[in-house]
Amino acid sequence: MNKQEYQFEFEVYDSITDLSKEDAWLLIEARKVTQHAYAPYSHFQVGAVARLDNGEIVSGSNQENASFPVGLCSERVLLASAASLFPKVPLKTIAISYHNDNGESNHPISPCGMCRQSLLEYEMRLKHPIRLVLGGMEGKVYIIGRASMLLPLSFTADDLS
Ligand code: THU
Repeated sequence: MNKQEYQFEFEVYDSITDLSKEDAWLLIEARKVTQHAYAPYSHFQVGAVARLDNGEIVSGSNQENASFPVGLCSERVLLASAASLFPKVPLKTIAISYHNDNGESNHPISPCGMCRQSLLEYEMRLKHPIRLVLGGMEGKVYIIGRASMLLPLSFTADDLS
C-alpha cells in the first residue's frame, strides 16, 4: 500500500476590490446575471459569465422547473450556450455569483458535482483550462486555476477507450 496525495491550491481575496480589472468586471457581470435566473422553487439565483479566448462574453443562469430534476444550473446553461454559439473557442475564465433570497449572499459558492463533471469535459474537449472566479454579492472571492482541480480521480473519456 502507498498513500497518494492530492494537492489543491486556490487563491482567496478579501473582496472584489483586490481582483484584477478583468476579473472584477466579470464577477460584477455574474452578479447582474443572477437577475436572469428562473428560480421560483429554491429562491437561489445563480449567475455565471465566461470570457472566451476570442474576447466574447457568454452568460448563463439557473433555470428551474416544477419537475425539480429538470432544472439546470447556471454553469451548465452557460456551457451549452458557449458550445452552441462558439463551439471551437475555449473558455478562459468563468465568474460565478448568486443571490439567496432566503439568506446571506456574502461568501463564494462553488459548482455542484454535476457541473464539475461538465466543466471538466469542456476543458478536455477544447484542451484548455477554465479559471473560476467565485464570489457572492459581497465578501471573499476564490480563484481556482482550472475547473478540473475540483474533481480529483474523475471519470473521463479516457476511461471509455
Ligand atoms: N445552482 C446553480 O445554478 N449553480 C451552482 O453552482 C449551485 C446550485 C442552482 C441549482 C438550483 O436551481 C439552485 O441553485 C439551488 O440549488
